[in-house]
Amino acid sequence: LRVGLLFGGRSPEHEVSVRSARNVRRALGEAGHTVVPLRISRAGRWTVEPDGDLADEPGAGGAGRPLLFAADATGRLLAEGAGGALDPVEVDVVFPMLHGVNGEDGRVQGLLQTLGLPYVGPDVLASAVCMDKDAAKRLLAAAGVPVAASVTVRAGRPAPSFADLAGRLGPMLFVKPAGSGSSVGVAKVEAEDGLRPALDAAFRYDRKALVEEAVVGREIEVAVLGNEEPRASVPGEIVSTAAFYDYEAKYVDAAAARMEVPADLAPDVAERVRALAVEAYAALGCEGLARVDFFVADDGRVLVNEVNTIPGFTERSMYPVMWERTGLAPPALADRLVRLALE
Ligand code: DAL
Ligand code: MG
Repeated sequence: LRVGLLFGGRSPEHEVSVRSARNVRRALGEAGHTVVPLRISRAGRWTVEPDGDLADEPGAGGAGRPLLFAADATGRLLAEGAGGALDPVEVDVVFPMLHGVNGEDGRVQGLLQTLGLPYVGPDVLASAVCMDKDAAKRLLAAAGVPVAASVTVRAGRPAPSFADLAGRLGPMLFVKPAGSGSSVGVAKVEAEDGLRPALDAAFRYDRKALVEEAVVGREIEVAVLGNEEPRASVPGEIVSTAAFYDYEAKYVDAAAARMEVPADLAPDVAERVRALAVEAYAALGCEGLARVDFFVADDGRVLVNEVNTIPGFTERSMYPVMWERTGLAPPALADRLVRLALE
C-alpha cells in the first residue's frame, strides 16, 4: 500500500510526533509498504517530502513541495509541482502520526474524512473526546469505568479555593489542561499559593483545566488494537524516579523513567486492567488503536487515567513495546494498523 504518513503538526508535541514518525516509517517500510512522508511544520505548512529524512525541522520554509487538497470524488491530495502545475499525491491510506491538538484531537481526522481518505486510528468524535480529559472522564464514569476524582475549572470563571479542593480531592492535587498530552502544562499543587499559577499554566494550553486527586500508586498502561473486536496487550509499567512522569522524564532524561513490560502485577490485577482497557476503548468509541493509561492505586483501586488515540511510537514509548512483548513486532503492528483503517 501507499501510506501517507502525516507528522509534526501545530502542537506542543510536534517533536515527539517527528520521533514517532521515524519509527513508523521504518516499520511500514519493513512491512513492504511505500511511505509518502507528509510534514506539517510548527507553523502549519503542509509539505510532501518523499526523500526527506524526517529531520525535526527542515530548512526555513520547508524542504518539500507544498501539499494541497482536493475534495473531489477521489479525495486526492495534490502537490505543487514545477511551474505551479498540480501533481496528484497517490496514497491509499493516511497514518496521522500526530500527537496532541490539531492532529490527535479529531481536526485532521475531520479533514481526511471530508476528503474520503481512509486513516489510521479513531474517527472525529472519539479522537475529540479522548483529547478532552474532562469529556472522556464523564463518558467513562457513565459507562461504569472507574476514574480519578477531579474538579473541572474553566478559564475566566471563579476557581474553588485550595482548601475546598483539598477537602474534596485530598491534600495533594494535580492540575492539568483538559486537552494536552505528554504531560505538557501539568503541575503538582500542595498549597494555596501554588493553585493559581498552576491553573494559569494549564490555561495556556486549554480554556479548561482539571484539578485531580493525586493517586498514590503505580502507572500502568495497556495497548489496544482493533475495530469491533479490540485486543489488549500485556500491561506495561512506567517506573519513574521523577516527582511524576512529566515531559522531561518521558522524552529527555533517560534515567528518570523506565518501561517494564510486562508489568509485574498479580494475575487478577493484570486481567482487570486488560478488561478495563477494552471497556474504556469501547465506551469512548475508539477504532484502530489507543493506549489506555491507568493508575493502580496503593489502596487497591484500578482507575483509568486517560486514553491516547495516537500514542507515541518513539524509542521511549510504550505502545509498540507492549505489542512486541505480546507477540506483534513493529512491522506486523504497522501493517495491522493500516489494514484496520481500510476495513
Ligand atoms: N501523548 C504521547 C505522545 C503519548 O501518549 O504517548
Ligand atoms: Mg497523553
